[in-house]
Amino acid sequence: MKGNWFVKKTNIHILAIESSCDDTSCAVLRDTTVLANKTAGQEIHRLYGGVVPELASRDHQKNIVPVVDAVIMEAGIGLTDIDAIAVTRGPGLMGSLLVGLSFAKSLSLALNRPLIEVNHMQGHVLAHFIDSPLQKKPQFPFLCLTVSGGHTQLVLVKDHLDVVVLGETIDDAIGEAFDKAAKILGLAYPGGPLIDELAAKGDPVRFSFAHTKTTGYNYSFSGIKTSFLYFIQNALQKDKDFVQNNINDICASYQAHLVNVVLKNVKRVLNDHALTQFAIAGGVSANSELRRQVKALEKELKLHTYIPEFQYCTDNAAMIGIAAYFKYQRSDFSGLYLAPLVKMPL
Ligand code: KG4
Ligand code: ZN
Repeated sequence: MKGNWFVKKTNIHILAIESSCDDTSCAVLRDTTVLANKTAGQEIHRLYGGVVPELASRDHQKNIVPVVDAVIMEAGIGLTDIDAIAVTRGPGLMGSLLVGLSFAKSLSLALNRPLIEVNHMQGHVLAHFIDSPLQKKPQFPFLCLTVSGGHTQLVLVKDHLDVVVLGETIDDAIGEAFDKAAKILGLAYPGGPLIDELAAKGDPVRFSFAHTKTTGYNYSFSGIKTSFLYFIQNALQKDKDFVQNNINDICASYQAHLVNVVLKNVKRVLNDHALTQFAIAGGVSANSELRRQVKALEKELKLHTYIPEFQYCTDNAAMIGIAAYFKYQRSDFSGLYLAPLVKMPL
């Protein structure tokens, strides 16, 4: 028999943990509703202009118990009310994943509740299915562009747990291209939101940057990043105040370039697969130029577009909880021998 043959289980409480990079996040969901979702960020990486893996895992160790405690308290439930423990298995930093996974396994064992492993990228895609007055739920099939600090993926979503990766970056992620450019400009880490802010006051067509060639619907941001570095170095040789006098236009032009590059393949996929539903996910989906252009595309191509609520764009445990909810319905549980996966295909 095909289709949804299982009986839907309701009033399910899932405690979810996400620790794949530098955010220690925990959430409690009742079915598709978030009862609590808290994230402890890590300021220490600002000093280094990027995430330092060893420091990230140490901070996860410090943060995980207080964050879980705070979430349980806010959700107003007891530990014994939890029906399953969800955790990010990968992709991510080994030490960071290990902290969340070890904690989740211990809790699963102590409470005698099933463990559900979640792929971080699957979490970003399924964040669209969290109940929220600020976001709509996409219809299947839809195209999801997942853009974050570590990933750039074009995913055809046929059902909650039935996805096909159509294209992805062959080197750096778009978030990395934002953050490294920000570092070159002397801005703090993570630089994506700062570029976004400065770009609002700048001219998006004043400067142009390199395009890179890839096969299929894949992306490449490494060359764009390097061309940006050379552009700034050359300009500084002619005018030592070039960056400070032109920062808004530099940010606006570079941001517009990255968004144009990322949306070019989106348009091709939508056309080739005759899709009318398009969603964006991941930290970079907070970018205002990307959001503006997605809205413009909605009108131009007569699409239905979906942009998640801001708190579910960047890394958070609620998205891990919602993915686990759909796995719980299928009794898709994991054993306690589960190891973290630095690379984990979707
Ligand atoms: O999804 P996320 O929180 O973590 C990863 O899984 O990587 O994404 C973080 C990335 C960082 O590169 C950050 O600079 C970028 O998202 N980001 C933005 C904006 N807000 C966050 N990039 C551009 N514009 C923004 N407004
Ligand atoms: Zn992420």
